[in-house]
Amino acid sequence: MQTILIEDNEKLFRLYSINLNTYAGTDVIDRKSAREAIELLNILPNIDLIITRNKIKEENTAEDIINFLSSKNIDIPVIVLGENKNIEEQAIIFTEPVAWETVIKKSAQVLGISLEDLKKKIRPEYVPINIRFFYDISEVPCDIYIRIKQGIGEYQFIKRIHSKDAFAKDLIEKYEEQGLHDLYVASDYQQYFVTFVTNQIIQKLEDDDLETNERISTTANAYGIVNDQLAKIGFDESIVQLSDSAINSMSKMIKEKSDLGNLLKMLFSSKISYAYQRAHLRAVLGNFILSKQNWYEKTLVDLMSFASFFADITLKSEAQHKIHSRDDLEKYNLSEDEKNTVIYHAKNAANILKSHPQFSDYLEMIMLQQHGRKDGIGFDNDPPEDLFPVSKVFIIADHFVYLMLDPNVPKVKKDVLDTLLEAYSGESYHKLIKTLEFKIE
Ligand SMILES: [Fe+2]
Repeated sequence: MQTILIEDNEKLFRLYSINLNTYAGTDVIDRKSAREAIELLNILPNIDLIITRNKIKEENTAEDIINFLSSKNIDIPVIVLGENKNIEEQAIIFTEPVAWETVIKKSAQVLGISLEDLKKKIRPEYVPINIRFFYDISEVPCDIYIRIKQGIGEYQFIKRIHSKDAFAKDLIEKYEEQGLHDLYVASDYQQYFVTFVTNQIIQKLEDDDLETNERISTTANAYGIVNDQLAKIGFDESIVQLSDSAINSMSKMIKEKSDLGNLLKMLFSSKISYAYQRAHLRAVLGNFILSKQNWYEKTLVDLMSFASFFADITLKSEAQHKIHSRDDLEKYNLSEDEKNTVIYHAKNAANILKSHPQFSDYLEMIMLQQHGRKDGIGFDNDPPEDLFPVSKVFIIADHFVYLMLDPNVPKVKKDVLDTLLEAYSGESYHKLIKTLEFKIE
């Protein structure tokens, strides 16, 4: 379904647009005037609904639209915001001020969505919980359901794990093998459940005796949960705590230097997400390069881990994570939205982190400059010399890891380093690349 929304107030536009999409399930097309809307209607007459302000600046927007529709004999319902007696018969008119809920409700009705459906959507009884939330727990604090489809838009929820019950890991694996991505909890229990899981994971990560392989998989899981929750609710206290303990866990593994070669082997072979593998490996390699610089300080381990953990946190799919240049953008079948998320991910990471208590100017620079651009938009694969030195280390470590994780790149270190030397023209980058010639042990 498609709705044209003509509203020049940006804030109101966003409010209507989000709610139309969420509650009435319609895509919203943005037009700023009757003229623009008519241009579109000429090529796309199958629009389901038009919502328009009565007047925009000097233009009689609503009247122009109505006249156009009747001259072309096009039957599209029109909702008008603002009184206009001339078109009373041809449009649904709301005299202002009008509550946005009223407009959304009417729109949903016009689009054929019943009040019942709307109620269900506004406050769903059960909410989905990504299955990864269950990897590191062995009991649940509330009842857990699975959803079974009964008809179009109709579902039944069946209780599968009872509150306080212990369950075995293979139950979750079995669900996953069946292609289940989400389990469900009653919506009132959502926050309670998420906090329970994050606390369990934090406890596990803070246990010094946790074996390295297990630590890697639990930290990777924490990364996935942070990624998931940040997209839904942004930073709240439990997400700050969970990301802190995941980052500490990464740093801890890096600081236990005696095992570095072994750690790399484990990270390369571990069955964890590409995203986390890349983040952790570049923290390890970044720290290794840093440790060869004469300005190295121990505190940089934490900065590198922190930056590495969050750099790509707004990306979703594995394909998005594998994009490392402008050319790569076309390699995968991504929608325009998905491409934009990649193009802006550096800037978005910097923005998101502004609400994290450990935000700093250094961190902001690394986030923005992670792909060689100072503004955090797009990619510069031959970055300039005047970037922040730690950003340069980040860039080289990230590029090295990107190549090492690419199954099509030969794994001889010398060849990978030659590829890197060729890619960068700046002298300082060459110096950093050469530090990777040191034997890593
Ligand atoms: Fe990135």
